Amino acid sequence: MSEPVQTPQTFPTRIFSGIQPSGGLTLGNYLGALKRFVEKQDEGIETIYCLVDMHAITVWQEPEKLRQQTREGAAAFIAAGIDPKRSILFNQSQVSAHVELGWIFNCVARMGWMSRMTQWKDKAGKNAEAQSLGLFAYPSLMAADILVYKATHVPVGEDQKQHLELCRDIAIKFNNDYGVNFFPVVEPVIEGAATRVMSLRDGTRKMSKSDPSDQSRINLTDNADMIAAKIRKAKTDPLPLPDSVEGLKDRPEARNLVSIYAALSGHSVAKVVHDFAGAQFGTFKPALADLAVATLTPITTEMNRLMQDPAEIDRILGEGAERADALARPNLEQVYDILGMIRSRRR
Ligand code: TYM
Repeated sequence: MSEPVQTPQTFPTRIFSGIQPSGGLTLGNYLGALKRFVEKQDEGIETIYCLVDMHAITVWQEPEKLRQQTREGAAAFIAAGIDPKRSILFNQSQVSAHVELGWIFNCVARMGWMSRMTQWKDKAGKNAEAQSLGLFAYPSLMAADILVYKATHVPVGEDQKQHLELCRDIAIKFNNDYGVNFFPVVEPVIEGAATRVMSLRDGTRKMSKSDPSDQSRINLTDNADMIAAKIRKAKTDPLPLPDSVEGLKDRPEARNLVSIYAALSGHSVAKVVHDFAGAQFGTFKPALADLAVATLTPITTEMNRLMQDPAEIDRILGEGAERADALARPNLEQVYDILGMIRSRRR
């Protein structure tokens, strides 16, 4: 066996996470992921963040738009506080180790595991036959994204939980199949008041960049007027805000807006409920709009500034990819060795 058996504790803490550049980023991506990516970086943990363009093409993307959205995603990371010197920031397709390990994991993961993924079932719906094979295999590539760095912790929103459980299953099966303790069993990091930001039009559905209604979401590219208008028009119920967190039960729209307020302000849901107990939405919504505009406008402004210089963004992504590759490649070479593949080509 080429790798000495390690105990799980010997894996140093390393964070990996990714966002698809398949559309503009939303407030859900910001609160559920991006804002927390910055917090982890600022805690001094080793952080690797990726615009997962290879995931994006599991559904057809217009090439020029994909390029633009990848740059815009990178600009959003930087504008939100990711420092490309302290974190590694890159786009997935520039580090081919991801897809190489992804293929290997396609041979580890079982069809049954993949068929049970709720996101696959939701996206494929009744039309599974017409979906790309890539969309079905997607969670196995996601596991490779993480494990090629032997990352131990993965900050994500609630909707990615099942994919991370699959990542754990793949790591365990690989380790068992080859009698090694090579891959860590990752910990999902799903924290904060807004792990599942819901649509502004329907509090039972996730806020998503793919929702046909632009009114359902706040985009990181929306200006102050658009943000305020969307919050003003957000669906609510006729009751005033409750005086306890339990009072938000069965009120999905109210709970969503309160959670967004909590996440934006950095306070707990309990504190927001306490501060606005008995308030009408006519009072709460303008307060939320002010807070959202004050938080998001500086990010949007900085994104727009960064987007003026696409060559600089590409340079940052390229440099990040080189650093990412230097970490991923040796791990992948060890995997090939574990698998019994001859690696005699001179490099
Ligand atoms: P994606 O691009 O759909 O979303 C990126 C991140 O944003 C979070 N998120 C939300 N959080 C709260 N409320 C919402 N409404 C909301 N919408 C999105 C997601 O949970 C995610 O954390 N498969 C992943 C991308 C990926 C990845 C990875 C993530 C590929 N490889 C490896 C982590 C590690 C995805 O499609 O995320």
